Amino acid sequence: MRQGIGVLLAENTDTLANETVEHYPACYAEKIMRKPAGFRERSGEILISKKRRIIMARRRIIAGNWKMNKTPSEAVALCAELKDLVKNDAVDVVYCVPAIDIVPVAEAVKGTNVHVGAENFYIEDKGAFTGEISAPMLKEAGVEFVIIGHSERRDIFGENDILINAKVKKAFASGLTPILCCGESLALRKAGTYKEWIKRQIEWDLTDVTADQVKTLVIAYEPIWAIGTGETATADQAEEVCAMIRETIAEMYDAATAEAVRIQYGGSMNAGNAAELLSKPNIDGGLIGGASLKPDFGQIVNA
Ligand code: PGA
Repeated sequence: MRQGIGVLLAENTDTLANETVEHYPACYAEKIMRKPAGFRERSGEILISKKRRIIMARRRIIAGNWKMNKTPSEAVALCAELKDLVKNDAVDVVYCVPAIDIVPVAEAVKGTNVHVGAENFYIEDKGAFTGEISAPMLKEAGVEFVIIGHSERRDIFGENDILINAKVKKAFASGLTPILCCGESLALRKAGTYKEWIKRQIEWDLTDVTADQVKTLVIAYEPIWAIGTGETATADQAEEVCAMIRETIAEMYDAATAEAVRIQYGGSMNAGNAAELLSKPNIDGGLIGGASLKPDFGQIVNA
């Protein structure tokens, strides 16, 4: 089980005191954040009235975005440096690394709690696409996550929402979990239209993506003005947008899908500000650039 009400399946149902109850294994108990009325624990099981919603805690996901940093040997050295610092069984830890570092990093993190992610890929499986890397190549190398639509890909390399949407669908079709990035420029923040902008990005980028897929998706809210600038959104600013993104998912899909999708904040997150950002109810993790290349990353994982 990874997260969310949407991925929980009751083992069976029966009737108890004229009420239909669903049976769940007891191991779910610690994941349940808010115990609904009708919640009962019985030896080895949890019983929940079928009329009630189960609100599951989403599993935290802390991902490093190494960007264009670290040669293969430097990458292996960083994995060794971080190995003990990032240990935490309650958190999904991901290193999204440059393409050339994927194979050595996958080898270096074998047997640890670290998952490997890519920073980019192209939507075709193979062919005449000089300089690109495909989903089957990533899969075979052990990649599980892929960053899609990072503002640097949008702004420097001209990726638009049509391509980003195609990448999201291709990633899912290939068994990769997208970390879909969205976020506004400083001009949009100042103009006050940032929420409409981000809502539109989400609607475009998830066109024709199914609810079941979105339940496993990771969305990263990254205000462009906070990326690499040392200027972090305040925890309240970040929470406002992450909550709005979750509402957008609820409107596009349903409440269960919105409860399940994991939403990260990214933009100058560091060892000093991570705990406050991560304490917010709609912030389920972080996408970390600069601080993912330093021992500080361990403090963020354990914040
Ligand atoms: P930053 O980068 O943490 O260095 O601001 C975040 C990102 O671009 O993903």
